[in-house]
Amino acid sequence: MSIAAPARVIPFARPWITEEDRRAVAEVLEGHILTHGPQGQSFEAEFAAFLGPEVSCVTVSSCMAALHLAYLHFGIGPGDEVIVPAQTHAATVHAVEWVGATPVFVDCDPATGNVTAEGIAAAVTPRTKAIGLVHFIGIPCDMPRIMALAQRHDLKVIEDCAIALGARHGGRHVGLFGDAGCFSFYPVKHLTTGEGGMFVSRHPAVAGAVARLRAFGVDRSHTERAVPGLYDVPSLGLNYRMSELQAALGRSQLRRIDENLARRRAHFTILRASLRAVPDVRILEATEPDAATSHYCLSVVLEGPLAARRNAILAALTAAGVGTSVYYPHPVPRLQYYRARYGYDASRWTQAQRISDQSIALPVGPHLADDDVEYVAQRFIHAVEES
Ligand SMILES: Cc1ncc(COP(=O)(O)O)c(C=O)c1O
Repeated sequence: MSIAAPARVIPFARPWITEEDRRAVAEVLEGHILTHGPQGQSFEAEFAAFLGPEVSCVTVSSCMAALHLAYLHFGIGPGDEVIVPAQTHAATVHAVEWVGATPVFVDCDPATGNVTAEGIAAAVTPRTKAIGLVHFIGIPCDMPRIMALAQRHDLKVIEDCAIALGARHGGRHVGLFGDAGCFSFYPVKHLTTGEGGMFVSRHPAVAGAVARLRAFGVDRSHTERAVPGLYDVPSLGLNYRMSELQAALGRSQLRRIDENLARRRAHFTILRASLRAVPDVRILEATEPDAATSHYCLSVVLEGPLAARRNAILAALTAAGVGTSVYYPHPVPRLQYYRARYGYDASRWTQAQRISDQSIALPVGPHLADDDVEYVAQRFIHAVEES
């Protein structure tokens, strides 16, 4: 018996690459500067202009690299504790582990998937040095209250904005509240450079120091060298640089970011309207009026009798050609590495666990036509009713 092909095939995400993007990369290849060049510098300036006033940006090889550089720069290490969400990507916490500090996991708000000021406050100890915040699926955290708490306890705030490009709180872009913000340009993100990321800070001295740390700790860039080839290395460093090819692609993509965000918002609005009234389906979204999300995807949490049928519904959607994902498939402390290192207590991160085990992320974005969005909604409702 042959299985009928689905009426449509809609990937969960797909990079939006145009002819202009290809031309921008080809132009770099026609020149001779493949790294340390004007594309990287311009990308940093243009990204800063998009984020808002008075921010300095540093191109890096990934968001994970940006996070690692942040903890290294702030001197966080063995004996220090960093408060992190249990519900996030492993990278958020790996960065803490790599500097030898101890992650302290906190549970999330069931409505948004974000950590709350109360959750963080309950986890602060005399050893806490920083908060590793995540704007979960691009929904901004409650930054005014979290920053007030951080100031009271003199804690650094590192914002993981991997999938939060375009998210704002009270008009201010995420990444500009804390001491550092870290963005990802992995292919499924709002903007891609293949692999890549951006470290951002409101403090030019922090950005300057991180720029040196990402390039071996060398004390002057090529353009700052009075005598070519001569430099010194006052500190240890890494090679976490972005190439000129990547930066050219990033610049070209950034020119379409407003259109990209508008398409995501429109798709989210259509999907939300179709799914709102479906029983036992709860949409994760911003709850505060002054929070604007990045609409990375639309994630639903299945409740009641649907909860145990999540994987069957995922399978039905795959069979119908609807690409889905799960953000994120385990609370980080349940991942094998962290479970072995710190043990896992299933009663401690119940909301994070619920999102991992009961949620489905549905696609939005420029790779979908408006009628694709309607198809996603129909197939989702059908899968819920039939599963
Ligand atoms: C919240 C979060 N942080 C960090 C990362 C890692 O980003 P990158 O692949 O650029 O290192 C991801 C990847 O999806 C993520 O979702």
